[in-house]
Amino acid sequence: MRIFLDSGDLDEVREAVSWGVVEGVTTNPTLIREAISRRPGADLAGYVEELLRAAGPGRPVSLEVMGTRSADMVREALRLYEGFNPVAGNVVVKVPVNTRGVEDGDLEGVRAIRELSSSGVPVNATLIMTPGQAALAALAGARYVSPFLGRVDDHVRSALGISFSKGDYLNVRSLRIWLESRAASGDRAAADVNSGILGGSELVAAIRRTFDVQGLRAEIIAASIRNPRQAEESLEAGAHVVTAPLGVILGMLRHPKTEEGVRIFAEDARRANYGELFGAK
Ligand code: G3P
Repeated sequence: MRIFLDSGDLDEVREAVSWGVVEGVTTNPTLIREAISRRPGADLAGYVEELLRAAGPGRPVSLEVMGTRSADMVREALRLYEGFNPVAGNVVVKVPVNTRGVEDGDLEGVRAIRELSSSGVPVNATLIMTPGQAALAALAGARYVSPFLGRVDDHVRSALGISFSKGDYLNVRSLRIWLESRAASGDRAAADVNSGILGGSELVAAIRRTFDVQGLRAEIIAASIRNPRQAEESLEAGAHVVTAPLGVILGMLRHPKTEEGVRIFAEDARRANYGELFGAK
């Protein structure tokens, strides 16, 4: 298991790498736009080079293409890989599994993944929302597949008319019980929402089972993580990597009883002159 930082912010990358438990970085155009907007006048190529150096050798950094046709994505990916990989040897190219929504067909992403992977360029297939997309990306040769947990949760809640804020945890177990009771009263549509995958962690579990049963070797990066429980559940569900914002990773360390325990131990250590064990007078 590994933890990556989901951020395009140089200071955050430096900070996270200094902890010694973050082993990679994922970016996307939105994260880069946010980061660069905080540095007016910065040269984007130079900034990306800094980011790659800050992550350092052995910590993969996913950089996304912007095209939507396979030929454009392949050209951009090669430019990213050949232009930036020499900086620290850690570039992974992120390619959307399917660019329908901009393009008419479904195959631009898979074609680009296949061509790049055959040429030895490591690909992170992104915007994965179903086990089928993950399987096809893996068959095309992707090194990583990135299911977007938060966005799957958003999709399920929107389909069911449940209001939520971006960071809200979705309790899939409770949701399933509620949907089963609705199905028992004859509401079949509710039971079939999102093909029965009711949240991001269920998606990770389904992809992991599929890959294990079928012997697919791509690694699963649980992405679009908005809260610590999502991160923990995706690790439990078999994600090889969780990529999360800095605040979510820090949130994984917090618990009120840990804080209380530390305060109590500190006070009792003082009362017991415990410092004598460490040479204090
Ligand atoms: O790793 C993908 C991530 O940056 C997208 O997150 O919260 O915008 O769905 P989000």
